[in-house]
Amino acid sequence: MTATIIDGKLIAENLRNLLAEKIAALPNKPYLAVVLVGNDPASIIYDRNKQKAAQALGMVCDIYHLPEETPEEDLLELIGRLNNDRNVNGILVQMPLPKHISSAKVIEAIAHEKDVDGFGPYNAGLLHENDPRAMIAATPKGILYLLEHSIGDLSGKHAVIIGRSNIVGRPLASLLLNRHCTVTVAHSKTVDLPKLTQQADIVVAACGCSQMVKKDWLKEGATVIDVGINRIDNKLFGDVDFDDVKEKAAFITPVPGGVGPMTIAMLLDNTYQAYLNQNNNLKKG
Ligand code: GUN
Repeated sequence: MTATIIDGKLIAENLRNLLAEKIAALPNKPYLAVVLVGNDPASIIYDRNKQKAAQALGMVCDIYHLPEETPEEDLLELIGRLNNDRNVNGILVQMPLPKHISSAKVIEAIAHEKDVDGFGPYNAGLLHENDPRAMIAATPKGILYLLEHSIGDLSGKHAVIIGRSNIVGRPLASLLLNRHCTVTVAHSKTVDLPKLTQQADIVVAACGCSQMVKKDWLKEGATVIDVGINRIDNKLFGDVDFDDVKEKAAFITPVPGGVGPMTIAMLLDNTYQAYLNQNNNLKKG
């Protein structure tokens, strides 16, 4: 078998085009505030890409770039101002933050209706309870879209997720449970991981271990989603050994061009949804 490649770049482009049409019909432009603390080169590139993508859709997106040594209270004060600013629909604080700042405190400070990352405890709790009001973290939301786009109904499928982060593994586990999958979440202390993945219909690799998942870890016809971004000698590799696995999987995402472009599209979708929620609520009362 040679796997069908899931073209995340094209699927995300189609989603962004649809979103641009819906945004053009709004009376005002949705506003996304991106907060970046420090000068991590990867974060600077990610945030510029988010800004460019938002602007291309007709949104307004400002990057609030603060110095590395910004005190936690100053960052919390900025978030407070953005929370209270009616023109701001979505707030994203780029992670990781410098060590002297508590990311938990900062994430909790973002108003839940503007939490377009879906990282805050309110939205994470709603997702956990399968409440449709949840703002869902962009990467797992994008992965779910790719899975349903490729294989349709997920009910009864066994999904093995490698990685238990708050950004990917945990919210994805909730999302897939809510779609009636049987979900196994594996992590660094899991014993005999290949034995688990060999039973899976869906394998999601989100552990940050370059090319770890091999062909003999899979059952024939599995769907493989690769969330890894590992830079080695200026080349990008996923957590899956793509060339090896593509002979056995039915569907597989490439790196780059798989999950990554979906994350930005879903962040912008969340910003659009936040705009709608805030404006409908204003109308109601
Ligand atoms: N750092 C890595 N991924 C993300 C993300 O999805 N959102 C934010 N805010 N920071 C990140």
